[in-house]
Amino acid sequence: MRALLVTGGCGFIGSNFVRYVLRERSDWRVVNLDKLTYAGNLANLEDVSKDPRYRFVKGDIADRNLVDRLFKEEGFDAVANFAAESHVDRSILDASPFIDTNIKGTQVLLEAARSHWLGEYEGKVFLQVSTDEVYGSLGETGVFTENSSLEPNSPYAASKASADLICRAYHKAYGIPVVITRSSNNYGPYQFPEKLIPLMIWNALQGKELPVYGKGLQVRDWLYVEDNCRAILAVLEEGRVGEVYNIGGGSEKRNIEVVEAVCECLAKKLGKPVDRFESLVTFIKDPRGAAHDFRYALSCEKIKKELGWEPRVSFEEGLERTIDWYLSNQDWVREVITGEYMEYYKKVYGP
Ligand code: NAD
Ligand code: TYD
Repeated sequence: MRALLVTGGCGFIGSNFVRYVLRERSDWRVVNLDKLTYAGNLANLEDVSKDPRYRFVKGDIADRNLVDRLFKEEGFDAVANFAAESHVDRSILDASPFIDTNIKGTQVLLEAARSHWLGEYEGKVFLQVSTDEVYGSLGETGVFTENSSLEPNSPYAASKASADLICRAYHKAYGIPVVITRSSNNYGPYQFPEKLIPLMIWNALQGKELPVYGKGLQVRDWLYVEDNCRAILAVLEEGRVGEVYNIGGGSEKRNIEVVEAVCECLAKKLGKPVDRFESLVTFIKDPRGAAHDFRYALSCEKIKKELGWEPRVSFEEGLERTIDWYLSNQDWVREVITGEYMEYYKKVYGP
């Protein structure tokens, strides 16, 4: 049985990944180390919680003693580091937790891999889950390749770029078998409703305003979360050590187009006129200011050529699946939006 440490497995992408691995790989067991911050919920993995190949441990990736103890107990063959503070707007309000978890936490995990694997790296792999945001912003044209320079603009992006560089250094200096994935914007089930798509779905259902930053002209490349999980597993198993792999959805949209698509899909599903939702769109002063990247787009030739990966779920299909999920899981949303979320919401969007 192969032992995999997944960190941040109670978050959005992490929980989808844990479920995906347990389903697709019967000879793997998964230990999920998660601090259960506002973004982490045990409910996200309730369906696998009794699986004998699954173990949950509550804790911080920056806690060296705990991480050491887990490496000793479990003899991990692989690490997939999803744990992070992940929201750009929060990083602009307070960068500190981003530095602690995204940078320091990653270094603690790498150090544990170094001291427990002791140079015997056969069959071992450390996968760092990173983001296209490390490359900075594009204008109307062009794409980022894995060789593009790192020019992060938000504290979130800077913390992820720092972690990527520390991973690179642990590979060069100690030979740790590191691979890095940089994906575009994910969407799908279990995404915390502070991010664009679930926030718009939830606010529309509540009849609340749909806050679009600036004029909504920024462009993001949307990737359905299950396509990302399949790509991450492919990189974990077959990626070349020391390499970076871009993972994009090939589905670029302006924010306003995404919000309109959410309104249209909801109107169709609920049998209501689309105007009922579109009239809620409110253009607000951009809370990100100069840190708001205009456009991300990725060249994914490398992962396509080397690992044969391509996205399978179109934006239209993925959005429909996502909206179906949120419509059927409204209690989940009510449970995850705690008082802390309401405080945060007021800070970004006003009372
Ligand atoms: P998320 O915010 O939904 O989940 C993060 C998880 O990490 C939560 O379960 C949280 O409890 C846990 N966590 C936070 N700090 C921790 C700590 N110190 N120790 C242990 N656990 C901790 O994030 P997500 O959207 O699922 O993103 C997962 C990873 O993917 C992150 O590394 C993020 O940077 C990266 N990423 C996300 C996107 C996206 O669109 N969501 C795109 C590209 C890359
Ligand atoms: P987000 O989902 O936070 O992802 P990221 O910042 O990592 O790309 O935001 C996606 C885009 O949507 C981004 O350009 C900011 C914009 N946005 C809004 O216009 N309104 C909102 O309420 C949110 C959360 C985001």
